[in-house]
Amino acid sequence: MCGIIGYAGTADNAFSVLLDSLEFLEYRGYDSVGMAIGNREGLAVYKDKGRVNELRKKIENAGIKGNYGIGHTRWATHGGVNKANAHPHQAGKVTLVHNGIIENYQELIERYDLRKKLRSETDTEVVAHVLDHYYDGDALKAIGKMVKELKGTFSFAIIFADQPNAIYAIRTVSPIVMTKTADCSILASDLMSLSSFSNDYYVLPELSILKMTSSEIRVYDLSLNEIELQAKHIDWQVEALGKAGYPFYMEKEMMEEPKAVEDTIKERIRNGLPDFESDALSDEVFEKLHSIMIVACGTARHAGLVAKQLFERVAGIHTEVEYASEFIYNEPNLHQDTLLIAISQSGETIDTLEAIRYAKKQNIRTLAIINVKGSTMSQLVDYPLFTNAGPEIAVASTKAYTSQLSLLYLLVGRAAYVRGTRTKEEVESFISNLQRAPGLMNQVLECKDQIHQIAKEAIDDKSLFMIGRGLDYLSLMEGSLKLKEISYIHSESYASGELKHGPISLIEEGTPVVAAITQDHLVSKSLSNLKEVKARGARVYAFVKESLIGNLDKDIRIIELPNADSDFMVFPTALALQLYAYYVSMEKGYDVDKPRNLAKVVTVE
Ligand code: F6R
Repeated sequence: MCGIIGYAGTADNAFSVLLDSLEFLEYRGYDSVGMAIGNREGLAVYKDKGRVNELRKKIENAGIKGNYGIGHTRWATHGGVNKANAHPHQAGKVTLVHNGIIENYQELIERYDLRKKLRSETDTEVVAHVLDHYYDGDALKAIGKMVKELKGTFSFAIIFADQPNAIYAIRTVSPIVMTKTADCSILASDLMSLSSFSNDYYVLPELSILKMTSSEIRVYDLSLNEIELQAKHIDWQVEALGKAGYPFYMEKEMMEEPKAVEDTIKERIRNGLPDFESDALSDEVFEKLHSIMIVACGTARHAGLVAKQLFERVAGIHTEVEYASEFIYNEPNLHQDTLLIAISQSGETIDTLEAIRYAKKQNIRTLAIINVKGSTMSQLVDYPLFTNAGPEIAVASTKAYTSQLSLLYLLVGRAAYVRGTRTKEEVESFISNLQRAPGLMNQVLECKDQIHQIAKEAIDDKSLFMIGRGLDYLSLMEGSLKLKEISYIHSESYASGELKHGPISLIEEGTPVVAAITQDHLVSKSLSNLKEVKARGARVYAFVKESLIGNLDKDIRIIELPNADSDFMVFPTALALQLYAYYVSMEKGYDVDKPRNLAKVVTVE
């Protein structure tokens, strides 16, 4: 969480570069914003609570000139949302911005006698003082000493008052990437802020110190030996970052979903079978398997729950799914031939990274499904597999989710083929069903107005239930998360059969209930459960596969989904429920892309 940026250039354009880049980073946190801008006369700090465009409006006519600077967009952890707690923080000659959490900051306050000096409630200001304590003109040495004092996760961008036009940085866990052009160097928390400068970039290794000026980028290890970095390449275009005329990124990203799924699977299918040669994932990984442990958070975990059903049923592999945030604290005892599969759009979620580290310590093989190339996770696991969804900017995950599903389906297909739990023909048929998923999703997009209409009926609801069975229940878990995070309606998903074991007591006259009915073998049971809630006065909306509609009572509001094999209905159902959540939020007048209290990249535990 939090986004940081650093810029050193030859022109006096640091102000606009920092503000523009902060807008790209805003999805990481948006309660406060700030920057420090330097020129020949010195360094000035501008910061406030609120969004980047609010700060922009306040200062854009102030004629601010500078050729280097650092910037920050905040997701509050230590201390409330106010100007004093906004970054940058300063102490003596040090000005810095921070992404992460310093766990031992209280201890540092005592050790360095800082209580009376602090002007904010942040852990970050404490670090500025510690660094200033060690700084005697040698920045590399001081940063090296400071970092030995810190416990926690961090990425810092730092300016020293007596070193104009130089930006320093260091990180552990929280990412920093950087790039260089003929007349500037720039660092950021992620690639999106760099892509308008260059398609080549470097990843700052953990606990290495970066020194960046307008003319060069140098990196040192903690013994102050210089390190040579390998350039990497961004493989999407900067145009992918715009809203393309849609009011919100979320809508644009849902419209891109069929293509995102297609781009994720097409290079991994050869002669009708899933093929992971280009990912350097050999069949031996599937052959040796004892079981699979999936770790992920939020939406990514929901993709894992779907995969669990299929790994078990299609590939015959015992599979468990854990919340990454619970995993290490449960101290699981993993069989040596377990494959740990992590799923993460950002590749930076700290809970998921910690789960991977735990598995690695036990010599467990690790595979990750990631959307962001160059992310920390991609460098940590044995087998990084990338979804090709392109940048996902809306906080609510949409195209990343269905792309993750599609990649997981390919893994299921390959595992089933290699382990012989399905014949070659059966796997080919499984894969051709998967290849139809983008078409099914396009059909849903064609009916989006119908979903928009029923979404309007939810805007005054305070609480809503989502019910379904089998894979439908899992799709609704995701739909329910989507609805609550962007519309602020309390929404709960239940396995329909579970209703009568408690939750049905909450159903009364007019209670909204959203159902999904797409699983052929479960239809009669799902319908009985619908009748039970209707009998108690529920207002029912059902997302139903076309071929099953004839089974439903006439007085149920039906949203028709295209026909497909039951195992593949998760694709159109997920998209339909995303559209539903989107329209509810939009109709309520919310900033759909930036729901309150949330951030796109979750780098704190
Ligand atoms: C919900 C959402 C979150 C993320 C979760 C994990 O729409 O986006 O639940 O899925 O924070 O993030 P990643 O996938 O980046 O690890």
